[in-house]
Amino acid sequence: MADAPLRLGVIGIGVGAAEMLPPMENADFIDLFAGADINPDVRNRFAERYPNARVYASAEEMVKDPDIEAVWISTPNMYHAPMTILAAQHGKHVVVEKPMALNLKQAEEMVETAEKNGVHLIAGHTQSFMPHMRLMRQIVKSGRIGKLGAVNAIAYTDWMIRPRTWEELDPEQGGGMVFRQTPHQIDSIRSIGGGKLRNVRGMAGQWMPERPIPGYYSAFMEFESGVPAVAIHNGYGYFVASELVPWGDANTRYTPTERNEIKRQMREGTRKETEEKLSLRIGGEGEQAIFRTAHDEAWKPNDLGIVIVSCERGEMRQSPRGLFLYEDDGVKELMVKSNPLGRDDELRELYNAVRLGRPVYHSGAWGMATLEVGLAINESTKTHKQIELTHQVEMPDAYDVEYAVEVVEERVVDDTMPVA
Ligand SMILES: NC(=O)c1ccc[n+]([C@@H]2O[C@H](COP(=O)([O-])OP(=O)(O)OC[C@H]3O[C@@H](n4cnc5c(N)ncnc54)[C@H](O)[C@@H]3O)[C@@H](O)[C@H]2O)c1
Repeated sequence: MADAPLRLGVIGIGVGAAEMLPPMENADFIDLFAGADINPDVRNRFAERYPNARVYASAEEMVKDPDIEAVWISTPNMYHAPMTILAAQHGKHVVVEKPMALNLKQAEEMVETAEKNGVHLIAGHTQSFMPHMRLMRQIVKSGRIGKLGAVNAIAYTDWMIRPRTWEELDPEQGGGMVFRQTPHQIDSIRSIGGGKLRNVRGMAGQWMPERPIPGYYSAFMEFESGVPAVAIHNGYGYFVASELVPWGDANTRYTPTERNEIKRQMREGTRKETEEKLSLRIGGEGEQAIFRTAHDEAWKPNDLGIVIVSCERGEMRQSPRGLFLYEDDGVKELMVKSNPLGRDDELRELYNAVRLGRPVYHSGAWGMATLEVGLAINESTKTHKQIELTHQVEMPDAYDVEYAVEVVEERVVDDTMPVA
């Protein structure tokens, strides 16, 4: 049926999936049809919550199910490429979590296999899909505040001290800040600036002995247009950037005291990380508190960080419910219609492509270009050199028409600092 909900299977029902389950449940165009995971506890909890869904113990079993139309791959990074290829070979459309793959050869193979099998591949679940990032791009393109001058994204988070599995702690398997976190910032920066970066000089940092993976990076990039961009993320959780906005505070998933306690347990080797991780997955207490309890929907600096866009005649940055726009005639807050933290649009991109024959914008080629930048930061860290980029692609203009962000209110902010 042309307008029937899309039958979707989730492979890897972990923390990343926990964040996507509510939007999947709420989207009337998605049928959360099946789940696959190697962990029996996770499978049981999935079966309990979704008694009508099919449950599989492996990706291999799930992709053989002829009733599943598309899969959402949220297994650890090292499985993204092989599982995408497997699913595509079985005729399933794919949304793959970030990072798309561990290297460009894998990414190329993913794109080729999807093409060969006539399925859509979406490099999904980065914060570039979110309304405030799309609105920044749309304002740049509209010329309202003139030509783009620079883009800066800065994140300070607790990412490194969240519970981790062995795969996440192995840089060879895609562990660490560069693989895991550059996609959010690079995708957003590329989208705001058009898509095509020319080169990057980057540096990853690793200085917490208990964590054998990079917990920091900074990167300086240049667009083909000559526009500069900077991306910084520090995940060590001492200082967090949500302290920097008047409507934020120093709490993240943890209070500052809890963060110190976690670090103490890590230093002493007493942290029960496997249990903590399970608690954040489906049916756990952590999942309930973070992903299934209603929170204030206001944006605060998170894993993407604060993004500041400078143009010839103004600047913009995220506000609690949209953007602050600094123009020659004053400061405005542009409120967006959708939840600024909403994650429906990637599901919609999948549905629109499969059911309505619309283009995929966050395509395999788009994801590969973002991956290339992350890999170049790693390369630049080793060589201390600037890396030239060769796989960059533009985001098509049609994206802004099809996924235009609706601004419901534009309010003038007076001469006091903009506050929520
Ligand atoms: N976009 C986001 O905001 C976001 C947030 C969190 C995680 N993620 C992504 O999700 C992925 C997983 O990270 P996570 O934090 O959810 O980790 P996780 O360990 O909680 O989840 C991975 C899940 O996959 C399962 N699994 C492992 N190997 C498997 C296999 N071979 N077959 C089937 N299932 C398997 C595990 O049992 C686990 O339930 C990563 O790629 C990460 O980048 C994205």
